[in-house]
Amino acid sequence: MHSIRITAHLLSQILLLFVVVSLHVNVIAQEKELNIIKPGSFLYAGKQPRSWPSPSGHFEFGFYPQGSGYAAGIWLVGRPENTVVWTANRDDPPVSANSTLEFTAQGTLLLRTENGEEKIIANPSSSGSVDSASMLDTGNFVLYWKRSVVWESFDFPTDTILGGQNLSGDHNQLISSVSRSNHSSGQFLLSMQPDGNLVAYVNNSAELDTDDAYWDTGTDGYSFSVLNLNTRGVLTMYSESNLDEERVPGLLENGSTTGNETKIIYRASVDPDGIFRLYSHQLESNTISNFAQNLDDVCDVKGHCGLNSYCSGKGNDFGCYCYPGFTFIDENTKFLGCSQNFTVDGCEARKDLSIQYKITALENITWAGYPSYVKHDLDKEECKKACEEDCSCGGVLYSSTGCSIYGLPLKYGRRQESIMTTAFIKVIIGSTISPSSGISPILINEGNRSLILTMGLSLGSFASLSFLMALCSFLLYRHRVKSYEKLSENTSPVLTEQFTLRSFTFNELDEATHGFGEELGRGSFGAVYKGILPGNGKSIVVKRLPKVNEGDTDWVRTEMMVIGRTNHRNLVRLLGFCVEGSRKLLVYEYLSNGSLADFLFNMNERPVWKERARIALDVAKGILYLHEECEACIIHCNLKPHNILLDDSLTAKISDFGLAKLLRPKHTSSSTRTKGTEWYSAPERQSSASVSEKVFDVYSFGLILLEIICCRSNIEVQVCSADEILLSTWVYNCFVGGELKKLVEGEKEVDMRMVERFVKVGLWCIQDDPTLRPPMKNVTLMLEGTMNVPIPPSPSPSPSPSPSLPHV
Ligand SMILES: *[C@@H]1O[C@H](CO)[C@@H](O)[C@H](O)[C@H]1NC(C)=O
Ligand SMILES: *[C@@H]1O[C@H](CO)[C@@H](O)[C@H](O)[C@H]1NC(C)=O
Ligand SMILES: *[C@@H]1O[C@H](CO)[C@@H](O)[C@H](O)[C@H]1NC(C)=O
Ligand SMILES: *[C@@H]1O[C@H](CO)[C@@H](O)[C@H](O)[C@H]1NC(C)=O
Ligand SMILES: *[C@@H]1O[C@H](CO)[C@@H](O)[C@H](O)[C@H]1NC(C)=O
Ligand SMILES: *[C@@H]1O[C@H](CO)[C@@H](O)[C@H](O)[C@H]1NC(C)=O
Ligand SMILES: *[C@@H]1O[C@H](CO)[C@@H](O)[C@H](O)[C@H]1NC(C)=O
Ligand SMILES: *[C@@H]1O[C@H](CO)[C@@H](O)[C@H](O)[C@H]1NC(C)=O
Repeated sequence: MHSIRITAHLLSQILLLFVVVSLHVNVIAQEKELNIIKPGSFLYAGKQPRSWPSPSGHFEFGFYPQGSGYAAGIWLVGRPENTVVWTANRDDPPVSANSTLEFTAQGTLLLRTENGEEKIIANPSSSGSVDSASMLDTGNFVLYWKRSVVWESFDFPTDTILGGQNLSGDHNQLISSVSRSNHSSGQFLLSMQPDGNLVAYVNNSAELDTDDAYWDTGTDGYSFSVLNLNTRGVLTMYSESNLDEERVPGLLENGSTTGNETKIIYRASVDPDGIFRLYSHQLESNTISNFAQNLDDVCDVKGHCGLNSYCSGKGNDFGCYCYPGFTFIDENTKFLGCSQNFTVDGCEARKDLSIQYKITALENITWAGYPSYVKHDLDKEECKKACEEDCSCGGVLYSSTGCSIYGLPLKYGRRQESIMTTAFIKVIIGSTISPSSGISPILINEGNRSLILTMGLSLGSFASLSFLMALCSFLLYRHRVKSYEKLSENTSPVLTEQFTLRSFTFNELDEATHGFGEELGRGSFGAVYKGILPGNGKSIVVKRLPKVNEGDTDWVRTEMMVIGRTNHRNLVRLLGFCVEGSRKLLVYEYLSNGSLADFLFNMNERPVWKERARIALDVAKGILYLHEECEACIIHCNLKPHNILLDDSLTAKISDFGLAKLLRPKHTSSSTRTKGTEWYSAPERQSSASVSEKVFDVYSFGLILLEIICCRSNIEVQVCSADEILLSTWVYNCFVGGELKKLVEGEKEVDMRMVERFVKVGLWCIQDDPTLRPPMKNVTLMLEGTMNVPIPPSPSPSPSPSPSLPHV
């Protein structure tokens, strides 16, 4: 009996041992099957193991060769070439063969370079623990805690999504690679926008503009928020809350299932050429096919050819060509664009300059950007002539819809048979200065644009400046006399036709505003009322000007026409006016988003940098148009965030332009100066009453620019320290101290290089010495990053008295 019991005991022991052993074997088998990676594992760039494969062996995570070194990422194994589908820290330089990748005991994925530098690839342990990792057969590298996913590479797409992967949320963009062999961020991006639209853009390093988009699904306004490529190769968009899906137009095709292939992996990538393509990888036959793409012609992708050049060709067979009169910046890298061997800067103000040019026509051409202005009802010859007569014109586009006049540079040029447009390009051959004036020419070598500023500055010696101003006023005066004469011959119906400016009666406006019932505000130029335009029901704003100069109504009408003749996307449009006796009213379009002042100072949260930067550029373009591009130069004299308005797409539009002059006759410069406005006034305003100087607006713009950058008012009393009270002093001190980060403290996604550029431009604009302030043309070029910005000096060189604080 005893021995039997012993045997039974032994048996149970053996059984237990067997169970334990088999369980262990089982676990190992399972881990092997999922290729479970344990904390403490290493990969090496220069020796084995170099990667962790997925169970099927089709995907691997680890080091792949990049340039002369290595990068860490995921690739789809292929013969003869692997396809990289994801790269960690893609914009970091390649690492050397002595680098390692560690899955640390703490659960972090850490890249360690040969000199001991550590770069984190994934750090989910901040939100919990990690006990294992795995390269899945879908191409997703995941980290687990107790079998649930705590981090996955699918959440951080680079230029590719794989079957089963989403593009949504914080990582809703694919950014192309530089080239097939360099996986750093390239210039094209595809964005699943929060507005439901899927859009392809070229990122030309300034802020994105609708101009930079070259393809979209047109689904803005839908609730789509996720772009998904399913495992059958179908690309759809849907909303997270509501699973109504829509196939992406142009990329409709189902995945191709040729022959008896059972194993296919689908992939959608923004390729280095900017085209978004769908691919299928047939694993058994090791073939790749591109079965759908959003665009067929590479030329349809904007940005392949640089400034002042155009793209022409079909499919992948295309070339970049210079416009007539231009030459390649670099003959060997034609896509960099073209330049003219000289241009004439600030020619509007230089009536002493005569420019020799010829105009060349090109058919079937178009380009992008905003025209300086558009004229309708011109024929081809008149359109060409309009460019000849406008010295800032670089080229015009003539089509059935009108004649659009553009300044240089011309961007995103495209030539194609189906484009029904004729372009006229102005080629400058030379220029001469009339001998009477002693001013040297400002011929600018395109290749050295930074010269423009220096020369502009040296030109701006006070004497020549006042000469130019005198000239400007004279021309203005002449223009006025001319229009005045025209006006005396004709009566208002002609005006209405010619400039589509409507003349209202006082009673009409009284009705439209319900007896001036809804007052929107009271500016320095009179009260503002909201109304509804009878007939079309459009919302309008009616501005009642203070009663001035009774009797001189013809002159007032002329001035209003000058205002009404402006047409630019960054100016509030004047729709009509009413002049009856001493009553003067202006009728403007109504803009729904309030003023820039509200936008900057009265929001709970700072508006995002990108938006602010765009607005700053809008404002600059509006002023540039007033100063140089519209038919009669207009100096605003009262720029401030309160009269810069925002429309429903947050495009900034300047209002109140032309009014300073209109109100000047009786309101001397001191009486038009009102509280609030004064803050934006240039220091010389105090001493000289001359308001015809553009530099005056440049000063105001500089202050507004600094306010846009810092989201605070020019003068702020509730600040930490005394030197923060005056914005200009504070900004200059931060600039000198290398502490620009302070200006945008707490903000995310701020491009500091751009902030620095904007700050420098702002500081140039607010120089006490008016001759140092750059013209608006240069301001715009500098903001856009086309022109270098030299280091600005202190705006008010000590020991000059600091600007006196107004009483608050
Ligand atoms: C990849 O391209 C980027 C951007 O053009 C460049 O800075 C980088 O040096 C390139 N890397 C390699 C390995 O060529
Ligand atoms: C890599 O390490 C080896 C041995 O530690 C050393 O001889 C070699 O110079 C290193 N290579 C580089 C590129 O640092
Ligand atoms: C993609 O999104 C859908 C719906 O939001 C979700 O069910 C699915 O799991 C997501 N796929 C991945 C890989 O995250
Ligand atoms: C555009 O490119 C610049 C650098 O060239 C980069 O800093 C910026 O983040 C890019 N913008 C987007 C939206 O990717
Ligand atoms: C895609 O495939 C589904 C089923 O596999 C089929 O019903 C549908 O018609 C196909 N669509 C196209 C555009 O081929
Ligand atoms: C697939 O089809 C080809 C002929 O078309 C045949 O030779 C091959 O054996 C097939 N493969 C499988 C796995 O059925
Ligand atoms: C500018 O280029 C034209 C040809 O495009 C040439 O005739 C002219 O001599 C050049 N001028 C200068 C100053 O290089
Ligand atoms: C553009 O090309 C077409 C040929 O496709 C031609 O008929 C047309 O006249 C060309 N020019 C313009 C200005 O449309």
